[in-house]
Amino acid sequence: MKVISDPKEFQTLALAWRKGRRSVGFVPTMGALHDGHLQLVRRCRKENAIASVSIFVNPLQFGPKEDLSKYPRALEEDLRLLKKEKTDYVFTPTEGSFYEDRFATKIKVEGPLVKGLCGAFRPGHFDGVATVVVKLLGVVQPDRMYLGQKDYQQAAVLKRVTVDLNLPVELRVCETVREPDGLAMSSRNQRLSPEGRRAALALYRGLKVGKGIFDLGETDSDKILRKVKDMVGEEKKVKLQYLEAVHPESLQEVETAKPGTVLALAAFVDEVRLIDNLIL
Ligand code: PAJ
Repeated sequence: MKVISDPKEFQTLALAWRKGRRSVGFVPTMGALHDGHLQLVRRCRKENAIASVSIFVNPLQFGPKEDLSKYPRALEEDLRLLKKEKTDYVFTPTEGSFYEDRFATKIKVEGPLVKGLCGAFRPGHFDGVATVVVKLLGVVQPDRMYLGQKDYQQAAVLKRVTVDLNLPVELRVCETVREPDGLAMSSRNQRLSPEGRRAALALYRGLKVGKGIFDLGETDSDKILRKVKDMVGEEKKVKLQYLEAVHPESLQEVETAKPGTVLALAAFVDEVRLIDNLIL
């Protein structure tokens, strides 16, 4: 496994792979890797001649009051895990080399895709995600990029960005990996207190109750969302930020739930912001 920090050096390698026509898979991450990330790496490994991963905590996607400085970092352990998964190349740019002093270009994502859900509470967040991912794609030049359903809106936005900008990459979205008790794996989970960790289970429990009543025939989104809210509300430590039932592609809110409708939420537990979703 080769670890490369210099964008130019990585790009030179990528150009050589392209000439050799070897298929390249790519998993962008911010590190502090867990099984959710590793599932993407495993699929990337299986489906491509070359498996590449990036680790970069992207300052551009954090708001001024968000948790950039508290974001967990664990490079050595990450590299150990990636080596075990037989990753070929890891790209670890430094902030200075990736955003040079005179850096001036940002991608702006507009419209309904970023209006609701996390977009409503994290202004500029998806612009930061889109900008860094387009930069990463410019360096790595993969045939396929692997993303998690856990960040449903992010995957939908990046799909739009790659289509809108005619980027020659195929997106593959992988299911959310959960802890045995149902909590969606997240690098931020390590910041939860033991009580917070237990309270956070209410999120998935709530989503499952919502899906449960949909499966029994309820299609009124308001009624489904109320049930989820009641369930989540039983945990005083959990402060819901949003809960929506949205169309799987447009991400617009729907009054009537159908198979494929996405129940998505964000909540604060112990000041840690967690997101989760379930497809009906
Ligand atoms: P990060 O939060 O590190 O996540 C990297 C990838 O792992 C994302 O595609 C995310 O959806 C996926 N992932 C995280 N937890 C998961 C889980 N429990 N199950 C399945 N997949 C999971 O998302 C980012 O980084 C950044 O925004 C990035 C795209 C790297 C741009 O900076």
